[in-house]
Parts: sequence; structure tokens; C-alpha cells
Amino acid sequence: MRWLKRIGYAAGALIGIVIVAFGAVYAMSEIRFRRTYVVPEENVVVSDDSATLARGAHLAATVGCADCHGEGLRGNAMFDRPPMGRMVALNLTRGEGSVGAQLTPALIERALPRSRRTCSI
Ligand code: HEC
Repeated sequence: MRWLKRIGYAAGALIGIVIVAFGAVYAMSEIRFRRTYVVPEENVVVSDDSATLARGAHLAATVGCADCHGEGLRGNAMFDRPPMGRMVALNLTRGEGSVGAQLTPALIERALPRSRRTCSI
């Protein structure tokens, strides 16, 4: 009977450790998810001459924007497995109802990681 008691204590301790570990991971991820950042707005001036548009199209094609945003950057469900979730890379075109129509050059600039902004392709 003594060994049964010991197994019981060990199981209780293990369950306690699992609960504390779960709580710690949950608390840490909540802190990260709720963190906010102030990103200073930059004054972005864009030109829409044909050379600039061609360069933009080249960059979008070569950097891999279409890998996620789909053909012609018209939007793409990257992950769609209910009930696990759905992740959509937005439609970036200027078409009616698309997110692209609402994005200013400054907002687009802010959406891009620095590594993509400064790449020298
Ligand atoms: C790894 C996949 C992936 C790649 C590659 C990618 N995007 Fe995205 N992008 C996303 C997803 C997913 C969203 C939607 C995020 C959301 O809804 O919170 C998004 C959103 C955006 C937005 C909208 C941000 C906003 O404020 O609503 C812009 C602009 C954008 N992407 C531009 C680009 C450009 C330009 C490139 C190429 C340089 C690119 N993305 C490459 C996945 C990607």
C-alpha cells in the first residue's frame, strides 16, 4: 500500500507541474499577444510612372509576394482547415472592396518587414 501512496504523490506532483507549466506558457503568450508597438509614420512618396510600376511588378514577383497573396496579388487563403482556422493573405489590388483600395503607400510601407524594404533585387 505504501508504494501505491508514493505513486499517487508522484502523479499528483506531475499533474501540478503540468498545470503550472501550462499556466506559465499561457501567461507569457498572453503578454506577447497584447503587446503594442508605436511605429512612427513615415512620409512615403510614390511615383506611378511606368518605370516605377514595372520595377514594383518585378519586385512583387521576385520577392515572393504572390506566394502568399496569390496570382496577381488578388488574395489567397493560405490555410483553410475548419475548425482549426483560416488564414488569408489579403487582396492587394486596387479593385473595389479589396483591402488594397484602402491602403496608403505609408500603410503598405509599414506592413513590410525591413528586410523586404531594403532588399536590392
Ligand atoms: C508568408 C506569406 C506572405 C508573404 C510572402 C507576403 N505577405 Fe503580405 N500578408 C500576408 C498575410 C497573411 C496578410 C494578412 C495579415 C492580416 O490580415 O493580419 C498580409 C497582409 C499584407 C498587407 C496588408 C497589411 C494591412 O495593414 O492590412 C500588405 C500591404 C501586404 N501584405 C503586402 C505584401 C507585399 C508587398 C509582399 C511582398 C513583398 C507580401 N505582402 C508578402 C502574408 C504574406
